[in-house]
Amino acid sequence: MNGTDGVDMPEGMNELRSRMNGISAWRNHRLEWIETTGSTNEDLKAAGDMRFLVAGHQTAGRGQRGRVWTSVPGAGVLFSFTWIWPDIDSAWKIPLRAGLAVRSALLPFAGGGDRLWLKWPNDICLGSGKVGGILIESTVRAGLLHLVVGIGINLRVPGRLADDGAGPGMRAASLDECREPADAVNRWTVLGEFVRTWAEWIERPASGGDALISAYIEAARPFWGRSVCVVLGDGGTVEGRAITLAPGGALEICEKNGGRRFVTDARRLTLVGE
Ligand code: BTN
Repeated sequence: MNGTDGVDMPEGMNELRSRMNGISAWRNHRLEWIETTGSTNEDLKAAGDMRFLVAGHQTAGRGQRGRVWTSVPGAGVLFSFTWIWPDIDSAWKIPLRAGLAVRSALLPFAGGGDRLWLKWPNDICLGSGKVGGILIESTVRAGLLHLVVGIGINLRVPGRLADDGAGPGMRAASLDECREPADAVNRWTVLGEFVRTWAEWIERPASGGDALISAYIEAARPFWGRSVCVVLGDGGTVEGRAITLAPGGALEICEKNGGRRFVTDARRLTLVGE
């Protein structure tokens, strides 16, 4: 692995490092680059310190719920970082804030905000496809949540979640759908935006629950009213229309019989009929 002092350090690392130095939330993170690894989340799993690891390629990239995140070398932004969340009771806010932060970071590259939206809880979608995913893994140590936040964003040739046979997933989208090839998006530029937007979203006041819910509802606008099938943590399913995000971060679904369900523990969410 090559850290910021490594001989093979990519261009762009220095710029990112100086951006991070200018944001207090990132100042203590060690920025590292690895050309190829299995999974950046796996690499940071045992980390006891603050690290931010960017990879050129992953051979065993992980998605949510044990799925696979595949990508083509150099075609995506693949990174993980450690983070400490002090308040376990408000952990439901983490995936929402993470989704909002990634969406905000991608706005300048997506040709306008309307096409970029969140699919609950934190898939980042571009038009009719998924352009980015977030995998947050946590452990409790001394009453604090120690997170590894892993993010994959498709720049060019799309990475995708392997279909696990549980139904059709979304098509994979990539940022280059919004741009001319000559105007290709650079991973370091995206990361430079991300460190800024993450600090903004994660550091909003803890009392900002309502504001968070409202911001999320707005950022997920194309999702509301869509037909969804949700596989719950206990294996049961809920089918209906996604209505809104309820206080506490639950997804409110209107079932076919008109009943309301509030879902917090989705194992899988599929858009039906797309
Ligand atoms: C999902 O949508 O299921 C989450 C995908 C998360 C992929 C990223 S790529 C960088 C980091 N390392 C991993 O192994 N996974 C995450």
